[in-house]
Amino acid sequence: MYDTLPRHLDFLTPADAVPGAELHARAAEVAPRKAAVVVPIRSLGENHRARIASHLKALDANDRYYRFGFTASDEQIDRYVAGLDFERDEIFGIYNRNLVLIAVAHLAHAPDTGANPSAEFGVSVLAQARGRHYGTRLFDRAMMHSRNAGVNRLYVHVLSENTAMLKIARHAGSTFVREGAETEGHLVLAPATFNSHFTELVEEQLAQANYHIKVQAKQIRNTFSNLQNVWRGTNKDEKRD
Ligand SMILES: CC(C)(COP(=O)(O)OP(=O)(O)OC[C@H]1O[C@@H](n2cnc3c(N)ncnc32)[C@H](O)[C@@H]1OP(=O)(O)O)[C@@H](O)C(=O)NCCC(=O)NCCS
Repeated sequence: MYDTLPRHLDFLTPADAVPGAELHARAAEVAPRKAAVVVPIRSLGENHRARIASHLKALDANDRYYRFGFTASDEQIDRYVAGLDFERDEIFGIYNRNLVLIAVAHLAHAPDTGANPSAEFGVSVLAQARGRHYGTRLFDRAMMHSRNAGVNRLYVHVLSENTAMLKIARHAGSTFVREGAETEGHLVLAPATFNSHFTELVEEQLAQANYHIKVQAKQIRNTFSNLQNVWRGTNKDEKRD
């Protein structure tokens, strides 16, 4: 439970931050699979709001607890999603071939930037897509985007028992301060380079192209499936005649 709510949860009142269902130890049975060579991570905009909500609502009570620090209800998720500011913050996502949003990251820029602009990272990966390093890739992408946006400190608020998220942040070089049940990870980022700008641009273009291919492929699959249904229907009618 958070005593003070992190920035990405500012849609809630502190009274919302009550611990929910009893937690079971995080299953250690997630077998890490080999990371895909290229993971198409795209920046999400206004028109992805509904899919972000569906993604978050597909998380079970444990996952919602890990993601938000409390067991967010569907209504609280709706409020969170309605409050997402796509201009100020950056939301990244990974779609599968069926256009299901299997992973989402929210990079929330701190309002008071001052001399040390900072941002906060929150992420979720659907249970069936875990262990493929999507969480790690999203963190990498958030680091790169933060550098390119002039942010030099990246924070992550994690429940201290959340081994997977702690590993992601630790592998990236974060240092941690543990405060009871919560741990704050903090990473000082290197300044942007021509290479970091160029890499992000290319990755975003590839991910957008990949998304549009998936949209077209799905349309083609739907068209064939409709044609098959029509054909089967006609065939049945002919047999009946
Ligand atoms: C945390 C979360 C995003 C990790 O996603 P993921 O794509 O499965 O993570 P990765 O595959 O990148 O794994 C990261 C590391 O954690 C390890 N790991 C994954 N699941 C683990 C588990 N259940 N227990 C222990 N380690 C685990 C991986 O082996 C990997 O370690 P490695 O780099 O040394 O191989 C995902 O579990 C999730 O959505 N949880 C619910 C929401 C949440 O906790 N959000 C984070 C708080 S903001």
